[in-house]
Amino acid sequence: MANLDWDDLSFKYRQTNVMIVSRYKDGEWSAPVATSDFDFHLSAYAGTFHYANSAFEGLKAFRGVDNKVRLFRPDENAKRLQRSGHRLGMAAPSEELFTQMCCMCVKENIEYLPPYGHNASMYLRPLLIGTNPQLGIASSNEVLFCVMCSPVGTYSGAKSLSPGTAVIARDYDRAAPHGTGAYKLSANYATSLYPYNLAHGQGYRELLFLDPATHTKVDEFGSSNFLAIKGNSYVTPLSDSVLPSITNKSLQTVAEDFGMKVEKRAVPVEEIAEFDEINACGTAVVITPICSVDDKAALESNVVTKTYKIPSGDECGVVSRKLYNRIRGIQDGLEEDIHNWCLVL
Ligand code: PLP
Ligand code: COI
Repeated sequence: MANLDWDDLSFKYRQTNVMIVSRYKDGEWSAPVATSDFDFHLSAYAGTFHYANSAFEGLKAFRGVDNKVRLFRPDENAKRLQRSGHRLGMAAPSEELFTQMCCMCVKENIEYLPPYGHNASMYLRPLLIGTNPQLGIASSNEVLFCVMCSPVGTYSGAKSLSPGTAVIARDYDRAAPHGTGAYKLSANYATSLYPYNLAHGQGYRELLFLDPATHTKVDEFGSSNFLAIKGNSYVTPLSDSVLPSITNKSLQTVAEDFGMKVEKRAVPVEEIAEFDEINACGTAVVITPICSVDDKAALESNVVTKTYKIPSGDECGVVSRKLYNRIRGIQDGLEEDIHNWCLVL
């Protein structure tokens, strides 16, 4: 067992034993290998460096109350990476290879899998990059796929389910209309770095992006989807610039299991005033409650034009907590996995 404080992990890079690597060339993927060398030896002309021929995924493995190891919905991540690869014109691993490499990564680094009871997990980061040397803009025809991992606690470092503040990014977009927002491409994150720095510098935990075409509707947070509770409804934006979150999809099923109505639809910014509870949701953030949302004409300015105070306030909302407990319960083996989401290693 690694010598780590499992209660104080937050979300940061920690080197583990190995990562798992496969390379694509001439139409074939090589057999995956484990390597303790975390440095890539790549041409400086590789497409990933110049033209962001790069996509990634994020999923978690959990040590359950029954001591079993569960990987949460790797098939969904494999499919999403294939969509990303297709959008980049780049090969992506089959669902089988993807899952095989994730399982290898967990097993080879098993002492870094946090024990049950610390609300911590092992975050897996599958990465797909174009490697052949090129000068002109083109899709890469040689690709490296690797899966690495790190033990993690909460994304913000704050206590699990402790609410944070958010600010709307009115004058910055993470995605363009008809762009790549609905794909998990590395390039999408580059666009969010500068506005994130501004928001964090002003003490906000989250940055809420609007639909890039009209800036009148809620899209998503920079690292996660937007989910709101309104009466017995689960409301989440329907937009072609939002990443299809696997956590959100799973929570929608859980909400339906609870007899809630799921509304996937356009969410006008002003509707924030009508929600009982708001959360960010995603693999890294799980469910992170939002207690207030500031609106500003310009992110750089100190002038807040409107503050939406969310009724659940400094506590996680009752419904959000119920959703959280169910999904975490399934991941930890406390609740029956009725939808067959977990792959038990
Ligand atoms: N939206 C963005 C922009 C993300 O980076 C993520 C994280 O993966 C999500 C949403 C949540 O997706 P998932 O639940 O599949 O992790
Ligand atoms: C995830 O939740 O897996 C993400 O990729 C979000 C962020 C760490 C980029």
